[in-house]
This record gives sequence, C-alpha cells and structure tokens, in this order.
Amino acid sequence: MEKLELPSPIDMPTPFAQVLGRRRSSREFSSEPLDASILSALLWACAGRNAEDGHRTVPSAMDCREVECFVFDADGVWLYDNAQNALLLMTEGDHRMATTAGQDFVGTAPVTLVFAVNKAKTGEISEGRMGEICKSVDVGAMMENALLACAAMGLAAVPRAWLDPAQVLQAMGKTESQYDPQMAVTVGFPL
Ligand SMILES: Cc1cc2nc3c(=O)[nH]c(=O)nc-3n(C[C@H](O)[C@H](O)[C@H](O)COP(=O)(O)O)c2cc1C
Repeated sequence: MEKLELPSPIDMPTPFAQVLGRRRSSREFSSEPLDASILSALLWACAGRNAEDGHRTVPSAMDCREVECFVFDADGVWLYDNAQNALLLMTEGDHRMATTAGQDFVGTAPVTLVFAVNKAKTGEISEGRMGEICKSVDVGAMMENALLACAAMGLAAVPRAWLDPAQVLQAMGKTESQYDPQMAVTVGFPL
C-alpha cells in the first residue's frame, strides 16, 4: 500500500472568536492545490491525535473513534492515518467527481474530505436510534472541526450531505458492509 508521509501541520494562530466570525459555506474554489502542511493541519484538526494514547481532537461515542477521514484529491483516494500523520492510498486516480452527486461546482476543488463510519469499530455503540445519533454526531463533530480549521487558515469550504454513498464507496475501494460515508467537506483556496 502506498503511503504519503505528511509534514507537520502549520500553526493556526487566528484568535478563536475570529475563526467563528469567519466561518461560512463557500462553493467557489480556485483549483490551486493545497500545500501538504495545510492539508496536514486540516486533517489534524478534524481527525488528528492530541494525545499519545490515541485520543483525538474530536470526541466520539464510547471512545470508539469509528469515524474515519478519507481524502479525495487529484491523485487518489487516501485514508488519513493519524498515528503516522500519513495518507494511505486506497484508490489511485482522480475520483473527486464521485463525491459530487450532481453538485458539480465542487468537482474542481482540490480536496474533498469524506467522513465515513467504519462499521468494524462501532462495537461499543448501541443499536437503534441512540446509536444512529451517536455516529452522526461523531461525524458532525469532525465536520465542524474541519470547517473551523478552514476558517482559521483562510480556506473556502462547504459541508455536504448530498453525496451518493454507493459511488463514494466504489471510489474508496470499500463496500457498504465496511463503511458508511455520511458527510463530505469540500475544501480549496477561495476564488
Ligand atoms: C448537515 C449539513 C448538510 C449540508 N449539505 C450541503 C450540501 O449537500 N450541499 C451544499 O451545497 N451545502 C450543504 N450544506 C451547507 C448549508 O447549505 C449551509 O450551512 C447553510 O446554507 C448555511 O450557510 P452557512 O454555512 O454559510 O452559514 C450542509 C450543511 C449541513 C450542516
């Protein structure tokens, strides 16, 4: 499996109140790629480790950490490995359009993150309504951290529930029995 080591994240010194004041959904992106250190900061913010014991920047129900972050860019579909600060190649090639479900305005943005529930990691989370709420809230926490990191770094971003899970799974090289892709966040430099 091909692995791409990420550099250290850039600092995000913007005061928190300014970050909150700036957050906005934006659907217009330059096609300029994201620097690896910016991508590293974005991934750390939404799915990274903030403790040696594996705890993350986001909470998760029963500490299952069942939501994983996939990166769709021009080169491939990658799984973020927060222990190694690396991207693991799942599928080679440009599959960004597989996430749009007709929202083609996001197809040329350099990166779309997909937050997907890894069904092998949901063991401690109860079945039924409570379990569904927990998994989706875990996804939402990661989504919001990604959006705030984008606001802190001056990036344009839009959260998107509008995706075709079957198309996204195929691009990820995964099946419905393995993953449930719930939300995308499309990111780039503003136009
Ligand atoms: C759960 C959720 C799903 C969303 N899905 C989409 C989507 O599929 N496509 C899109 O363009 N915007 C989507 N949005 C963005 C909303 O349209 C946007 O947040 C709303 O219009 C408010 O605008 P603001 O984010 O700029 O404050 C979604 C937002 C949330 C929270």
